[in-house]
Amino acid sequence: MKFSNTLIFWYLQNNRDLPWRKTKNPYFIWLSEIMLQQTRVAQGLSYYLKFTTTFPTVFDLAKAEESTVLKMWQGLGYYSRARNLHFTAKKIANEFNGEFPSSYKEIIKLKGIGDYTASAISSICFEEAAAVVDGNVYRVLSRYFGIKTPINSAAGIKTFKALAQTLIDKTQPGAFNQAIMDFGALHCKPQNPQCETCIFADSCVALEKKLTKELPVKDKKIKVRKRYFNFLVLQTDDHKTILSEREGKGIWQGLYQFPLIESEKTINKKELILSEEFIHLFPTETTISLFNEKEIVHKLSHQHLYTHFWIVEAKNTDEANIKWTEIEKYPVPILIANFLEAFLGEK
Ligand code: ADE
Repeated sequence: MKFSNTLIFWYLQNNRDLPWRKTKNPYFIWLSEIMLQQTRVAQGLSYYLKFTTTFPTVFDLAKAEESTVLKMWQGLGYYSRARNLHFTAKKIANEFNGEFPSSYKEIIKLKGIGDYTASAISSICFEEAAAVVDGNVYRVLSRYFGIKTPINSAAGIKTFKALAQTLIDKTQPGAFNQAIMDFGALHCKPQNPQCETCIFADSCVALEKKLTKELPVKDKKIKVRKRYFNFLVLQTDDHKTILSEREGKGIWQGLYQFPLIESEKTINKKELILSEEFIHLFPTETTISLFNEKEIVHKLSHQHLYTHFWIVEAKNTDEANIKWTEIEKYPVPILIANFLEAFLGEK
């Protein structure tokens, strides 16, 4: 009780003034929570405003083309979240008549919504006592209670959820959940937490035992895979290029990309031109130049993509399906969007 009272007292004086704090409309809360899983509040804010202006109701989002939704999501990453968001908007609009389900149990059944989001929506919008556990919560609880169980282990996930659930203020669960997240983001920060002025200075185990820097503990078990990408940026005489939609289940499903040749390691121009895939793609004469001498390393959670963009000049070909003047209409991975900005800015 003391923990939650102290925390909520702090929150009342320090909470951030954010647009989604002014509403309990579950559609808006859902949007904000999905976006905030991808990014910090400062960046998430512009996406939230863009989405809520363009799609003021769940019906508007449901009606949109998937490519429009993906385009607006561009830069947030994890595009499967945007696809799930769109899928679920259609379900709510068409099957539930626009009415968001109102309990944790029902909300968690929706595609793209897991324990965190269902807890956030049900507590903030419907005052259900479902504790959220995000990175901030792990940090605050592991430090306050001095818990060394790795937060990315099965035992850790279970322990911290159960602990948060015992601490939540059942009379104001939405405020408690937002308070603990804000406290983690603003005060009990990963680096340089403000322990000297902390409301919990007399009872925090990490502070007492000088464990603040070590907590929370995270298992380093994820092995990062290195991949080598060569994008072929065609420029035809009649100002066209090739973009195609990525298929399959990957991270970039539904997004567009230039023809891609993946190699085992970094390759030079000669190796590229002699590769079977290149000859297959461009059997006729081309002029090739490397756009970025230094590889761009795009870091995803489990993979690092070492990327070269090759400019391929060629005569008109039937495969060139996209006009350069229209290229910005297509949703592309941020890696390609950044390239386009540099390339088109330079021309
Ligand atoms: N991070 C994600 N959602 C949040 C919320 N509702 N309040 C504070 N921080 C958050």
